[in-house]
Amino acid sequence: MSKATKKHQYTLVILKPDALVKSLTGNILTRLSEARLRIIGAKVVRVSRELAEKHYAHLKDEPFFDDLYNYFSGKAYGRKYERVLAFVYEGEDAISKVRKIAGATNPLEADPITIRGAYGRINKKGIMENVIHCSDSEESAKDEIHLWFDPDEIIEAIYPTKKVIRNKCEVLEWA
Ligand code: PPS
Repeated sequence: MSKATKKHQYTLVILKPDALVKSLTGNILTRLSEARLRIIGAKVVRVSRELAEKHYAHLKDEPFFDDLYNYFSGKAYGRKYERVLAFVYEGEDAISKVRKIAGATNPLEADPITIRGAYGRINKKGIMENVIHCSDSEESAKDEIHLWFDPDEIIEAIYPTKKVIRNKCEVLEWA
C-alpha cells in the first residue's frame, strides 16, 4: 500500500481577540501541540486597519468589512483586547493538521469538538467570531507569513530574504 506523500509546510495561526477574551490561549496551544508541529515564530500584534485590509484583501470592499475589522482588531471588546497572537508553525502537513483542529470557518458548521465548533459563534452583526485563523494553502501561508512577520522574527530561514540597510543597520527583508 502506498503512503500518501507528506509535505513539509509552514502555516500562519492567529488567535483572534475572542480567544483572548475567553481565556483560550493555553487551551488552543495545547490542542495545537497535539499535531506535533513546531512553533518557529510568535508575537502579539495590534491589528491596524491597513494590516486587516491586506490580510482580508478579498473582503475589504464588502459591506461587512467595518464590522469584520471591529472584531478582528479587538476594538469590539475594548482596549484591553485590541490585540491578537500570531504564530508560524512548521511541520509535516502543517496546514491540514492545524485546519483539522481549528474546524470549519463557520462555527455553526464546525464539528463541535474543534476549536471553532466549541468556542466560535456568529455575532449579532453576522460576523463569524471563530477564534482562530489558519492558512488554507501553501500559497496563502507564504503570503500571510510575509505580511505578518519580518524574516528575523522567525527562528529559521524559511523563504528567500535580502539584506537592506535601515537606520544605518543591515537588516533582512523578504526578497
Ligand atoms: S470566502 O467565503 O471565500 O470569501 O471566505 P474566506 O476566504 O474563507 O474568508 C472568510 C474570512 O472572513 C471571516 N468572516 C467572514 N467572511 C464572510 N462573511 C462573514 N460574515 C464573515 N465574518 C467573518 C471568516 O472568519 C474568514 O476568516 P478566517 O480568519 O479565515 O477565519
